[in-house]
Amino acid sequence: MQYINELETTISDMVQKGRGILAADESAPTIAKRFDSIHVVSTEENRRIWRNTLLTTHGLGEYISGTILFEETLNQKTDDGKTIAEAAWDQKIVPGIKVDKGTMPLALSAGDLITKGLDGLAERLRGYKEQGARFAKWREVYAIDKHVPTLNGIEANAEMLARYAAVCQEEGLVPIVEPEVLMDGSHDIERHAEVTEAVQHAVFNALNRHKVVLELMILKPNMVLPGKDCRTAEPDEVAKATLKVLRRTVPIAMPSINFLSGGQGPEEATINLNAINQQASDAPWQLSISYGRALQQPALQAWQGKPENILQAQQALLKRARLNHLAMLGDYRPSLEND
Ligand code: 13P
Repeated sequence: MQYINELETTISDMVQKGRGILAADESAPTIAKRFDSIHVVSTEENRRIWRNTLLTTHGLGEYISGTILFEETLNQKTDDGKTIAEAAWDQKIVPGIKVDKGTMPLALSAGDLITKGLDGLAERLRGYKEQGARFAKWREVYAIDKHVPTLNGIEANAEMLARYAAVCQEEGLVPIVEPEVLMDGSHDIERHAEVTEAVQHAVFNALNRHKVVLELMILKPNMVLPGKDCRTAEPDEVAKATLKVLRRTVPIAMPSINFLSGGQGPEEATINLNAINQQASDAPWQLSISYGRALQQPALQAWQGKPENILQAQQALLKRARLNHLAMLGDYRPSLEND
């Protein structure tokens, strides 16, 4: 592999005890939805202001070691005229890029989805690398219903993730591999565990088939949870179910597992991460975050699109980053929310 040293350096810059990843890579329709909730119009300038706010938060680098950006953001500048990627790296936050092009239905496989974006990926990665990106992210999505995901859906999605990861490593970008089993629906935690286990097995089989070097990638999985329309689960139950699946499926060569928040509330996502780390002091991998909503939501609420609220928004982001840092160490307590 041509870029092995580069990949090793990126992994050691990203995988550090007590630091996680800030996902700020919402696509245009998704960020529009988030802005809608605070009555802000999603213009290019408003998106720049928001991402500038996040990544110029003073002190963020203490808790955050990487950030996933959207393509548009790589071209955007901070108020000081640096690129946003440069501003991130000023705090030793490694800039990365979401490279998939969203989902579509998988043909002849009702209910299954598949992610687009493999055509021309190597060329795109070279361009992103020139703009400062050192890692990439690709998300496959699995909805749960009575008959989905199908075996065909699970295999097809695993193949996509592995092909993407292989191209990334060949081009010198660390791949974040994200198979997200959604929490939408009324399924119980056992069903979520069963599907997540089947998905992870297929993903690691495919990664092996495509010769992806596990030491040089990061897994971004869902936690194992009951469906949103089912009962809620205690953090200890979530941690137990999540760790059981991970121990059965993820080889110890993988350096870091960075969970997505997937619609959990900010505090819920922190409490669950804390329980996972408390139960997993012997885990062979780092158990960290790659949260989008669970890091950004309170900051977005504080901002409301107003310049005079930017500092408060940054404080809200920093607070969630610090509390998740404590959760990565298993040292979080809910009473800290009021400090
Ligand atoms: P959430 O933490 O909001 O699920 O987002 C993470 C992400 O990057 C989804 O692809």
